[in-house]
Amino acid sequence: METILVGVSGGIAVYKTVQLVSDLIKKGYDVEVIMTKNATEFVAPLTFSSLTKHDTYVDTFNKNVHYDISHISLAKKASLFIIAPATANVIAKVANGLADDMLTTTFLACDCPKIIAPAMNTHMYENKITQDNIQKCKDYGMIVVEPQSGRLACGDSGKGKLADVETLLDAIECYSYTNKCLKGKRVLVSAGPTREDIDPVRYITNHSSGKMGYSIAKAARNMGADVTLVSGPVSLRRPFGIKVIDVKSAKEMHDAISTQKDGQDYIIMSAAVADYRPTIVSDQKIKKGSGLKLELEKTTDILKELGEDKTYKLCGFAMETQDLIANAQKKFKEKNLDLMVANDIKVEGAGFGYDTNEVTLIYNDTIENLKLMSKNELAYKIMYKLMEV
Ligand code: CTP
Repeated sequence: METILVGVSGGIAVYKTVQLVSDLIKKGYDVEVIMTKNATEFVAPLTFSSLTKHDTYVDTFNKNVHYDISHISLAKKASLFIIAPATANVIAKVANGLADDMLTTTFLACDCPKIIAPAMNTHMYENKITQDNIQKCKDYGMIVVEPQSGRLACGDSGKGKLADVETLLDAIECYSYTNKCLKGKRVLVSAGPTREDIDPVRYITNHSSGKMGYSIAKAARNMGADVTLVSGPVSLRRPFGIKVIDVKSAKEMHDAISTQKDGQDYIIMSAAVADYRPTIVSDQKIKKGSGLKLELEKTTDILKELGEDKTYKLCGFAMETQDLIANAQKKFKEKNLDLMVANDIKVEGAGFGYDTNEVTLIYNDTIENLKLMSKNELAYKIMYKLMEV
């Protein structure tokens, strides 16, 4: 089991760290918490110990806790160290190698990936000294998860709120994934549905949630790639460390992908692009009458266009309700793909909206049936397969 060290310094955002630790435990990580003395004014160490089932460390010289040299043994077993919230004071210390308590000594002794999540008053955050210290941390290879803007506990408004827990989890997942086999590679992923306007209030769309595409983008990011995600309208959270280009229609998706495709090493078209759009989009709301006939025209098949003169490996999806393999093989050939991910949306747990999927992979002359699995797990399988074919 991987061990994540969570360093907690003193700020009101400590209550969010309790949620972070709880979520990490639920995800199966072993978590050890080290608090500064000031942090214990906000939340008691017992809160964290109850969640982690470990002692919570505060003072380097606390004889009651352990008999070995705790900061060294903790540092050795850590896969990743995150300080959240990181106050201006603790950032200043770690930027300059100061080590005067359990948190900072352990941090200095660690050679695993290190994440700093600042949280403080906006004036303290914007102060040149803090900014210089943050830059210094980055220059030393630490990852800084930017704070959010909003109303701060002190009543001021501005940048300084701790990043939300989902973003912190996402960053931890990214940097604790050790196989960075896509480092230096560029990956373009499309995800979600498209929306084709009929008039100012109505549109044609489909049931795609974007989950599969977002999982693929995150897996590629975790594997070290520089990822661009072209996303149709979805209600998913913006992933950490991924450039997202928001689009609505099939035309916008086509335009975005066309401008991004050069220089990519892998392109994965998991978006459910509309095949047809209304020929004319009414400027005014269409009033109800005796009947309405919509005239539709075909959209560009983006995947097919990407298959011509490709300088990257190309992966497409086929969503079918009948003759899965025959239809998917046909699309695989016609669109000149390297990998096809085919699924029958009538299978329970596969396709739109679910967190799971059951697919068949088609590549070279192979048809490989995969069992039902989470979209996150499948995302890695797709990326590793695409690298291999
Ligand atoms: N696709 C695309 N552009 C479109 C339509 C689809 O790039 N205008 C891509 C999808 O992202 C997917 C693949 O083509 O990767 C297959 O999509 P699918 O809807 O299963 O097949 P179609 O080729 O549209 O054929 P049909 O709708 O007749 O099954």
